Amino acid sequence: MQELTEGQKTFANDIIEGLSQTTKQLPSKYFYDSEGDRLFQEIMALDEYYLTKAEESIIYENKQDILESFIGTDSSFRLVELGAGDGKKTKILLEHFMDQEIDFTYSPIDISANVLTILKESISSALPKVDIQPIAGDYFKALKDLKKNHLQKEVVLFLGSTIGNFDNESGLKFLKKLGENMTKGDLLFIGFDLMKEPDVILAAYNDKRGVTAEFNYNLLKRINKELKADFDIENFIHYPTYDPISGETKSYLISKKKQQVSLNALDKAFTFEEWEPIFMEVSLKFSQSSIQVLAQEAGFKVVKNFRDSKGYFQDSLWVKL
Ligand code: AVI
Repeated sequence: MQELTEGQKTFANDIIEGLSQTTKQLPSKYFYDSEGDRLFQEIMALDEYYLTKAEESIIYENKQDILESFIGTDSSFRLVELGAGDGKKTKILLEHFMDQEIDFTYSPIDISANVLTILKESISSALPKVDIQPIAGDYFKALKDLKKNHLQKEVVLFLGSTIGNFDNESGLKFLKKLGENMTKGDLLFIGFDLMKEPDVILAAYNDKRGVTAEFNYNLLKRINKELKADFDIENFIHYPTYDPISGETKSYLISKKKQQVSLNALDKAFTFEEWEPIFMEVSLKFSQSSIQVLAQEAGFKVVKNFRDSKGYFQDSLWVKL
């Protein structure tokens, strides 16, 4: 077996663990290598992928209301963003806050220092007066460090319905842990994709151009590259489902035939039966009551909800109790 770095070892262990389950699965957090990031940008621009456009319109239409809710009776605040990506939606808020001469600091947190450097450059060139203090590292560690020196109210942004990519149990665990690293009175502004007509949801995860399929196949390609595996993409079909009872959109890659795949870097092989699925990703869709319950169970109270004109998406403002 070749020498692997710590990061590669964790990746390798997670892939092996996933493929060893009775229902094979691969963690969707590994979608985002540089090609995965590029494909996700392409997805966000697709006609069928309504989520980004809906959230952008919420932020644009409600920027003054959002500002007033963030600042409340305080004179300044720190805006902390978890996983800002290209920062397109956040820039709408930053620009408005600058126009209104609000005293705030913007701290995007990301595990990748490289992502933060690119983001800082793009924000500084568009909005040079924004006080931007990025933090590279783990979300919880970064929030814990901020909490130790809590001089002003914190407003945490967690946009894009990324919370939907956790299963119910781990989503609640994540939000509880987030709350533990915040201070009473701090705010959380969090995006939720809502339950809606099933065909609209399915189309968003099964676009005509096949970009979402490619996004899923890309994880197999990544495993081929990083673990010297021999997945043949042609032997798998991309298949998303939506369950209107649970709100779960699940994506699978299904093996078209009986086949064996070898992970040569790890001396491991896995057999696939004909039509055996690999569970790739969950994208949970929320109801008003599921959002209320989640806030309550995680130790927050819903202050205000902002929805787009079609009622597809909701940004919910919560206060830490
Ligand atoms: C990042 N996340 C909210 C996206 C979603 O909609 O679940 C990821 C995605 N998967 C397929 N298309 C987009």
